[in-house]
This record gives sequence, structure tokens and C-alpha cells, in this order.
Amino acid sequence: MTPEQQSSSGFRLRMMICQTRRIGIATESCAPRGAEDMTQALQQELILRNLAPWVELQVGPCLGYCSRGPNMRLVGHQLYHGVTLGSLNDICSDIIAILAAQGITPSTPDLTEILPPI
Ligand code: FES
Repeated sequence: MTPEQQSSSGFRLRMMICQTRRIGIATESCAPRGAEDMTQALQQELILRNLAPWVELQVGPCLGYCSRGPNMRLVGHQLYHGVTLGSLNDICSDIIAILAAQGITPSTPDLTEILPPI
């Protein structure tokens, strides 16, 4: 996505996330494989890394890789299969690299503003 294609909301990247749940048929789908939990976990990770202002999360339809879910597509860049909590660091690293190529370096958030004092 070029700067000219940037949405008016300010997002530079869009992550399409399949949360398809098929009921009553013997076909695998992403929701029973944890897509909803991975969506929430990714959202939290983006917030913690100050990437949320740049990445739009969009729950979308089946991406066509049902048996390999949960599946996410970083539109124009990468397709992720079998996303787990362990995958999120790699996904965020990819996002940081793509943003850096666009000249964007998200600042590290001041966690003292997010987390309560211990
Ligand atoms: S059900 Fe998620 S890719 Fe098809």
C-alpha cells in the first residue's frame, strides 16, 4: 500500500482474519481452531508494541486454507497459517519491517502509562 493508498483512518496495513465457523459439516474452519482468541491476542500485541495505529484488523471471510487455520492475511504482503501465540512475535516483526520500509518507526510506548504501578 503506497502512502497515496493510505486510508483516511491512517492505517497503513490491513490484516484480514478468517473467523469462519462451519457448523454441521465435516470441514475444518478457522474459528474452532482458535481464530477468535488469536485475533484478540494480536490486537493486544499491536497495542503493546504501539503498532495498532498502523494496522487495521478486519475479520473477513474464508481465505481458502481452511485445514491450515487459523489463517490471517497481511494484505499485499504475507499469508500466515496455523497462527498461535508463538506466531505473534514474527507477525509483529514483519509489520515493523514493512512499516520501516515505508519510513515509519513506531515509537516504543511508555508502559508506565499503560500498566498500573507494582
Ligand atoms: S475457514 Fe478459515 S481459511 Fe477457510
